[in-house]
Amino acid sequence: MKILLVLGLQFIVIILTCNVKDEQPSHHKKPRPEACGSHGVCKCGPDEEYYEVNCRNRTYKVVPRNILPNATKIVLSENALEYMPENAFANTPNVTVINLTVNSLTKVPMKLFAGTVLLKYLSIGGNHLEELPPGLLANAPNLEFIILSHNKLTSVPADLFKNKHKLSVISLEKNNLHQLSPTMLSSTPNIKKMFLGSNRIREIPDGFFNHTPKLQYL
Ligand SMILES: *[C@@H]1O[C@H](CO)[C@@H](O)[C@H](O)[C@H]1NC(C)=O
Ligand SMILES: *[C@@H]1O[C@H](CO)[C@@H](O)[C@H](O)[C@H]1NC(C)=O
Ligand SMILES: *[C@@H]1O[C@H](CO)[C@@H](O)[C@H](O)[C@H]1NC(C)=O
Ligand SMILES: *[C@@H]1O[C@H](CO)[C@@H](O)[C@H](O)[C@H]1NC(C)=O
Repeated sequence: MKILLVLGLQFIVIILTCNVKDEQPSHHKKPRPEACGSHGVCKCGPDEEYYEVNCRNRTYKVVPRNILPNATKIVLSENALEYMPENAFANTPNVTVINLTVNSLTKVPMKLFAGTVLLKYLSIGGNHLEELPPGLLANAPNLEFIILSHNKLTSVPADLFKNKHKLSVISLEKNNLHQLSPTMLSSTPNIKKMFLGSNRIREIPDGFFNHTPKLQYL
């Protein structure tokens, strides 16, 4: 009986400790969730082979903490992210895939992708983005795929794809694009597919595709 009581008390103490931990004040109302916790917060990654952090569909409102520095694929799609901090991926220098598809982002900071030199695939499709900061992709010279479809973009900064020599696929469909900068594709010689459907573009600027000899699909 005594032992049971002691065990019971310990149980209560543990519950209390957990609650106190949960209610710690932080920058946001709730503590940031763990990316890959051993505490049962989520069962996402890292996958042994890809060093993947898979936090798909977890109702996260903020970027999880403790993303391992060796992560190469970070999937945060189908969450409720409303805000991304600067340098969000600066501690994961080997990341090649960042997936932010289907969230609630209305804007992103210019330095969001600082330090992501190896990034190949980026999706921010399915958000509420109205504009993008110039220089957003300046630190991603190896980008091959970029998905920005299903947003509310009215324009795209002229320099967004500057010097993206490996860029092969751009998806901008289902936005509110009115016009395209004439120089948008002037340093992307490897574009193969460009998706521009479901926008409000009335005309393509003269010479827009002059530097995209490999274009196969438009
Ligand atoms: C997302 O998670 C919810 C709750 O766990 C689940 O019911 C739903 O089927 C999931 N959706 C997808 C697309 O995986
Ligand atoms: C990134 O990859 C390189 C080469 O595989 C490796 O030497 C380095 O330790 C990795 N960096 C991190 C932070 O895991
Ligand atoms: C990634 O880093 C974690 C934490 O240091 C380590 O446990 C894990 O083995 C690493 N994975 C790889 C594949 O290097
Ligand atoms: C990105 O996330 C979306 C939605 O969860 C998924 O359909 C897509 O396959 C993902 N792409 C990659 C490369 O992870």
